[in-house]
Amino acid sequence: MKWSGYYKLDWQDRIQYLVENHVIDATQAKLMAENYSAVGDQQVENYLYNFGVPMGLLTDIEINGEHKSVPMATEEPSVIAAANNGARMLNQGDGVHAAFKQRLIRGQVIAINLDDTGAFQHYVQKHTAQLLAVANHAHPSMEARGGGAKDIVIEPLDEKTVAVDVLVDPCEAMGANVVNTMAEAVAQDLRSVGFEILMGILSNYATEALIEANVAIPVAALKTKQGMAGADVAQRVAQASYMEQLTPYRAVTANKGIMNGVEAVVLASGNDTRAVNAGMHAYAAESGQYKGLAQWTVSDDGQFLNGSIKMPLMLGVVGGSIGIVPAVQLNQQIMGNPDAQTLSAIVAGVALAQNLAALRALVSSGIQAGHMALQAKSLALQVGATVAEVPLLVAALEKSEQINQASAQALLANIRKEKR
Ligand code: HMG
Repeated sequence: MKWSGYYKLDWQDRIQYLVENHVIDATQAKLMAENYSAVGDQQVENYLYNFGVPMGLLTDIEINGEHKSVPMATEEPSVIAAANNGARMLNQGDGVHAAFKQRLIRGQVIAINLDDTGAFQHYVQKHTAQLLAVANHAHPSMEARGGGAKDIVIEPLDEKTVAVDVLVDPCEAMGANVVNTMAEAVAQDLRSVGFEILMGILSNYATEALIEANVAIPVAALKTKQGMAGADVAQRVAQASYMEQLTPYRAVTANKGIMNGVEAVVLASGNDTRAVNAGMHAYAAESGQYKGLAQWTVSDDGQFLNGSIKMPLMLGVVGGSIGIVPAVQLNQQIMGNPDAQTLSAIVAGVALAQNLAALRALVSSGIQAGHMALQAKSLALQVGATVAEVPLLVAALEKSEQINQASAQALLANIRKEKR
């Protein structure tokens, strides 16, 4: 089968080619056609069809004094229930307070084969104003909005290599395209005076866009249905949080749980989940050991569980796919059309909610009770239950001692036998 030039075919012909070559059959081609999106066809290369991710709602989380509803895109059962559960607890205090100290994106311009790195650094220091002007001239609208290139930081890398880092305020955008344009312009300017520049590119390690979120929850809000007192839950959550500072094996799992919520909101808001993910994990290892991003402690008087999280977060509310995908605009509307700072505060709040719900479950009834109960619907579909059979099978699984594929299959067979 020949693939060269496949990308030049139009969508109909791309699908037809797959059918003719027995990669897919006619029914599958129909499924692709049903999920065709003209926007999708413009967004990515070799476009086939839109792969749907279920979208659910976090109904109410209080962020900086405002109650927000937050759409979340995820395929994993129990994530959205947990976010709601966590937010319900966060809202019992005065909600989440989240803010940036600064919000800048970094572009690296890497100079190589320098005979004298000191002389190069001296040149950059002396010409900082000029280099900033070059950067701003490459994308003047950003400066006109009050943003643009604000500073230059010199990052010596080895005895022959120095990165010239341009720090850019991207206003309401995430800034990738802006900063890349600026970094390339600065690279060109440095080349023109004789320096060898390897490349200019943004960094997704957004250490100049660290958001910090805090919450204080009255311990009574944490008590469980099974009868564990709120004060005990609070102590155990704090202990669990401390474990994430001790062992990366626990920290990675806890951060995965945080990313359950973070990625779901980042994706729903039309932002780049990979950029956020890469930056978050690098920051988690900032001290040299990978640690949990969130921390929970009990207040000295034992009355409050205090939570905090600090993470690099560069999100936009304009640019990229945001303006072109109607579902993203719908999601922004549900959140009250937040600006970039508010969207980031929402994401940081969801991170705390998600982590708290998981830790509370882990240190009380265990994760499987809640998670597996909600997994039952997916399990029912996996073993072939029809839409009408799903509620019957879920009810049977909830009563069953085991929730797994074998028990689901056996219970489904029973349901069908009883129906005959
Ligand atoms: P529960 O205590 O049985 O629920 O929790 P409840 O019936 O008492 O409801 C409490 C609230 O939870 C509700 O308030 C809802 O807000 C929400 P209400 O509306 O009644 O006033 N809620 C739901 N929201 C939407 N849909 C639902 C739903 N059920 C409850 N169906 C629950 C049950 C699953 C929420 C709880 O056990 C929980 O939060 N578990 C944590 C689950 C979790 O973290 N899942 C993520 C996947 S596991 C993972 O990937 C991460 C992990 O490894 C991370 C780590 O190790 O740190 C765990």
